[in-house]
Amino acid sequence: MAEKKDYLLFTRDTLSIVYGMQENAIQRMLDFDYICRREKPSVAAIVNPTRGGWHPCFFGSREILIPMYRTLKQAAGKHPDADVMVNFSSFRSAYPTTKEALETETLRTVAVIAEGVPEKYSKELAVLARKKKKWVIGPATVGGIAAGAFRIGNTAGALDNIIESKLHRPGHVAYISKSGGLSNEVNSIIALNTDGVYEGIAIGGDRYPGSTFIDHLLRYEANPEIRMMVMLGEVGGTDEYEVVEALKARKITKPLVAWCIGTCSKVFPVEVQFGHAGARAGNVQETADAKNRALREAGAVVPDSFEDFDQKIKETFNKLVAQGRVKPAPELAPPPVPQDYREASKAGRVRRAANFICTISDDRGEEPTYGGVQISEVIEKGLSIGDVISLLWFKKLLPKWATNFIEMIIKVSADHGPAVSGAHNAIVASRAGKDFISSWASGLLTIGPRFGGAIDDAARYFKKACDSGKAPEAFVDDMKRQGITIPGIGHRIKSLDNPDKRVELLKNYAFKNFPKRKYLDYAVEVEKVTTQKRNTLILNVDGCIGVSFLDLLNASGSFSPQEIEEMVEIGYLNALFALGRSIGLIGHIFDQKRLKSGLYRHPWDDILYLVEKAEKL
Ligand code: ACO
Ligand code: LMR
Repeated sequence: MAEKKDYLLFTRDTLSIVYGMQENAIQRMLDFDYICRREKPSVAAIVNPTRGGWHPCFFGSREILIPMYRTLKQAAGKHPDADVMVNFSSFRSAYPTTKEALETETLRTVAVIAEGVPEKYSKELAVLARKKKKWVIGPATVGGIAAGAFRIGNTAGALDNIIESKLHRPGHVAYISKSGGLSNEVNSIIALNTDGVYEGIAIGGDRYPGSTFIDHLLRYEANPEIRMMVMLGEVGGTDEYEVVEALKARKITKPLVAWCIGTCSKVFPVEVQFGHAGARAGNVQETADAKNRALREAGAVVPDSFEDFDQKIKETFNKLVAQGRVKPAPELAPPPVPQDYREASKAGRVRRAANFICTISDDRGEEPTYGGVQISEVIEKGLSIGDVISLLWFKKLLPKWATNFIEMIIKVSADHGPAVSGAHNAIVASRAGKDFISSWASGLLTIGPRFGGAIDDAARYFKKACDSGKAPEAFVDDMKRQGITIPGIGHRIKSLDNPDKRVELLKNYAFKNFPKRKYLDYAVEVEKVTTQKRNTLILNVDGCIGVSFLDLLNASGSFSPQEIEEMVEIGYLNALFALGRSIGLIGHIFDQKRLKSGLYRHPWDDILYLVEKAEKL
């Protein structure tokens, strides 16, 4: 245990262990430390029974990591300098955890926050603390605060209140109260009428608190830094009479301004239970009036009503100043605490440019939306995959004839057997033992200008030629002159004699359903020219998708010419093939895995070896 005068529970060097993962309270303690200009944060460790590791938080603007342990034994073992435990465990586990803390040699003070701890256990803890010459504050308390030094958990509320109540530096007045809520009021009253709080403890509202008014007042009496004391008692219990006795016996000699709240209980015809478990007068002696009278008679400064409480505090303090017994503590500006970004942003006090922009979907609400349409609506209205693609790729719900066509593209491009480049590569990768994703990627990576990836280029060239009014023959000649194979024309196995059924299906749909066409009609004319040269130079599936999609975008009336141009540039149309073909690639990979096919090795007799001895340089 750190060497400390008996009457001092908290100093600027006090270190604590927080039991329970109370992120906000921990950050509040650290913020208080920072405005007090403490050198070190007051939370040395956290006990989090579910997870060890590190908890990131801020000390001023600096991000720090506080170690987390699963057990108090580990935490206390690693941090023997910590002599306070702030116990946030629930009322169910407050008893065993507080008991363990009291039995831990290095810990001296335990603040028990939980409400509803059974009285039997509270009494036992109080006895154990006394036996071990240790301190229990609470249960059922917010804790307490040593101005400019140490704050228990959430005591004294928001940072603004703390600064307004001058708690970031010590004054000369110490107080004791039952209620944590009222202690905020007391902080403010003392700050307004004296040089400020030195220390304040809320012992908690239970009938059997771990430490009582007199315990703390005697500490305050012994502390030369404290020049006057304030007590806020309440109706119920007899603890205030211990203070009365101490006053009479001159064990308390410093000025004590006291008031017991609950004087209004007499206006009720029956006995009333106030907020706290202990706030109920069992007999006349326990009434607030009787206690106030006894305190006044014993020498405490007791106002006539709570209204005058502040005045009495002011008069008492001023008297001490006049007598030269107090030199008021200087005012001190606290360092500004950087605002927590999340809170400030929520309150609209800061703004920050986003790193990401998304215009297609939103996952922040109760359910995700696709292009602004909730997924439940997608399901309930029976929207198709074509509709979903339309929402997420085009940010529009295109007409049914258009989304049906999108779906048709996906269906007809889903697979073309195991021999085509993409499926072949996916199969080879899978047979080499690659996992599903890698094998799929291997297939996808094969899609390019000769295989499946000629759609955008086909759209680009056909569009340019058609828009410029070029005759199909002139287009074919121009391309030949430039030495460019026309994207979307030609097929390895399909020809005029062996037409590609997929192309037939797509064309027929477009002829029948598109409100208007121009690029498909133009491509058909080009095909007439190319197939005269060679009957394999048909409009292939890539070409057919490319030109008919241009017609779809045009005929939908939803896109400007610039938007259509942009889609072709971006590569929207190749994406249709990549998406559709993924279905087949995945099927082939599963097929190979199911078949447990071994490593594929290409047969030698299928390779023409033309290797000459390398020239020696
Ligand atoms: N435009 C003009 N001439 C062509 C085209 C074309 N698109 N395709 C082939 N030719 C000509 C070649 O110049 C060659 O002529 P030559 O004998 O006078 O030298 C002849 O036709 C044969 O060419 P190959 O490349 O041997 O034909 P192959 O049948 O192997 O090619 C391929 C098929 C790769 C599809 C080819 O037609 C081509 O590159 N087309 C353009 C790209 C394309 O559209 N790919 C998508 C195909 S569909 C799909 O993958 C889903
Ligand atoms: C395909 O769809 O994969 C084919 O058109 C390509 C091919 O080589 O048959």
